[in-house]
Amino acid sequence: MSTTQKVALVTGITGQDGSYLAELLLEKGYMVHGVKRRASSFNTQRIDHIYQDQHEVHVNFKLHYGDLTDSTNIIRIIQEVQPDEIYNLGAMSHVMVSFDSPEYVANVDGLGTLRILEAVRLLGLTKKTRVYQASTSELYGGLAENKNAAGFYDENSPFYPRSPYGAAKIYGFWITKNYREAYNMFACNGILFNHESPRRGETFVTRKITMAVAAIAKGKQDCLYLGNLNSQRDWGHAKDYVEAMWRILQQDVPEDYVIATGVTTYIRDFVIMAFAEVGVTLTFEGEQENETATVAACSNPLYQIAIGTVVLRVDPEYYRPTEVDLLIGDPTKSKTQLGWKPQYDLAAMVKEMVASDLKLY
Ligand code: NAP
Ligand code: GDD
Repeated sequence: MSTTQKVALVTGITGQDGSYLAELLLEKGYMVHGVKRRASSFNTQRIDHIYQDQHEVHVNFKLHYGDLTDSTNIIRIIQEVQPDEIYNLGAMSHVMVSFDSPEYVANVDGLGTLRILEAVRLLGLTKKTRVYQASTSELYGGLAENKNAAGFYDENSPFYPRSPYGAAKIYGFWITKNYREAYNMFACNGILFNHESPRRGETFVTRKITMAVAAIAKGKQDCLYLGNLNSQRDWGHAKDYVEAMWRILQQDVPEDYVIATGVTTYIRDFVIMAFAEVGVTLTFEGEQENETATVAACSNPLYQIAIGTVVLRVDPEYYRPTEVDLLIGDPTKSKTQLGWKPQYDLAAMVKEMVASDLKLY
């Protein structure tokens, strides 16, 4: 290891973002340490390609068993690693699931952030270690009246979380800001809007859709069941968003940034785009739980689905107790201050996700 090599510690390294961030940091020459949870079955699929390389190429990558609920474990890892940068991506990140396990989510997503910050402080690393906190557009809660005059959520928009996940993450946001102000730490929030990829967890709506489209096209599934088709999300690509995380920690001054595309799309329109990738045109009928989508045309000879087949139904089981109806972010600050330029648009991302899922079947 050269004396100038930067050292990063990534919690949530086995997740979607953790895996892309690890690749980016390795490309940039970092020594990357990741925190992974012990599980009864393998949970490192997204980073196996890096990990397996380790014995041949990647001496710059090391995993540590750990959990954000365990202060002593977090302190020990940070003491051992002495990181220049910590990316706190670890979280129970599923909004719907957070209604079922609200206390656990508060502990991991809220107090877990405090444990990281406090460990840095206790270990006397406040001048050395920069901390990135994975904050979220869920903080805004989608309230129309809280958008700015141009109709976007930005760094100054008020928060109104609408789930136990959002409520836990708002603690993470404020405690990060407080440690920055109280202890002069380089601690920043990235307020990231939804970002997806072929590595997205299978129960988030985009991946659930692209996997179902692939399975239906290959005759392995009959119908896709979704919840609220009327919510709107500002979707970007995870690969672009981890680049923004890194840039946030390279600035001269610690600040918080919105990372978004500035474009919002209905869930229903994502479904239309994904089916179009396999040559299927849909007709929608009915409303609310009676809404269905039927195959109106099928142009791809490889994926023949009979005209009139119902390929989408609504299952109210997926409705949330409180919904975030609309998210749309203003990326002006991140584009101007960070020089952040996303490479993907939504169409390119949908194409990549469907193509990747077609290979699964
Ligand atoms: P993800 O795929 O669900 O990954 C979450 C990671 O956190 C996984 O590695 C998971 O480990 C780990 N984790 C869960 N509980 C933990 C615990 N108790 N201790 C330590 N690690 C734990 O999420 P993601 O999409 O990559 O998102 C990364 C971060 O950004 C999360 O904090 C999320 O809340 C936030 N965020 C995501 C988005 C988005 O659209 N993707 C937008 C805004 C903010 P296992 O693999 O063992 O489960
Ligand atoms: N998951 C899921 N499953 N969502 C569905 C379904 C379904 O079957 N049907 C409709 N939806 C709707 C949800 O009600 C929500 O309005 C929207 O699709 C997006 O849901 P998710 O993909 O689960 O993402 P999310 O917006 O709730 O949360 C994600 O983005 C946040 C940033 O805004 C997660 O990645 C969070 O961790 C992240 O903070």
